[in-house]
Amino acid sequence: MNDRLKTIVDLTKYPIHQLSSNKIKNIIKKCKKELDQYSCSTIPNFILPKALNIMNDELEKQINKVFMSNKSINPYLNSKDDQSLSKNHPKRTFMERDNGYLNSDLFEKNSEMKFLYEQEELLNFVSACLGVAPIYRWADPLACHAYNVMKTNGILPWHFDSCEFTLSIMIQKPDKGGIFEYCPFIREPGNENYDEVKKVLDGDRTRVRQLKLEPGDLQIFKGRFALHRVTRVEGNRPRYLCIPAYVLDPWRVNTPEHSKAIYGKILPIHIERNQARSDGLAD
Ligand SMILES: [Fe+2]
Repeated sequence: MNDRLKTIVDLTKYPIHQLSSNKIKNIIKKCKKELDQYSCSTIPNFILPKALNIMNDELEKQINKVFMSNKSINPYLNSKDDQSLSKNHPKRTFMERDNGYLNSDLFEKNSEMKFLYEQEELLNFVSACLGVAPIYRWADPLACHAYNVMKTNGILPWHFDSCEFTLSIMIQKPDKGGIFEYCPFIREPGNENYDEVKKVLDGDRTRVRQLKLEPGDLQIFKGRFALHRVTRVEGNRPRYLCIPAYVLDPWRVNTPEHSKAIYGKILPIHIERNQARSDGLAD
């Protein structure tokens, strides 16, 4: 283990470098149960306060480089209307988006977040919590561990993620709002379940769950199959989050359209690797 890890993660509470210890085994068991049941699990105070400050600083130092996307968008992260579909199709529901990313390729070499993402201990711990192996760090150079920024009135509408597993590390909470909501297992490979998705878009709250996330908490989330959103941020304090992601396919990256819309640019890798996905889902 690299010694720097113990300055970032609370290894006393969460010894992720000793996966065979009973302490971490019990935590993994609890996480796996929650992930199986709700597609989401939270580990409180995972990141040490000092590391959290460093993450906050490294984001604020480059805050002028954050790409804000504010196109209206459907749950499949597309902004083009397909008029061949019925008016009721969830692909034809477009929602306001006002949300930004500091892309991963802008992180400095010695970045705290980048370092954490590159540690095998974190990857192995997440893999154990999910009960899925192998998982890989995401090959997308812009999106793999981006900082997410939501300013006053910022909003992230209902959507699915293009990667299977994301971590969220809350860095700064807004004064009010900015609450994460999700609908576990609303779709699965080969089954979009459009009718149920449409119900949620229309305001049905039956499937909706809310998650409380405090600064320093780590959330593990299966966002490809759970429809999710972040409610509007109220007050002057922006919401800062880091979103390191893991995938089942080490080769795949975002589509060029997705990358342009959400991260503001397309790199050659997005064009070279633009192929249909094997899980047969719409995005
Ligand atoms: Fe998401």
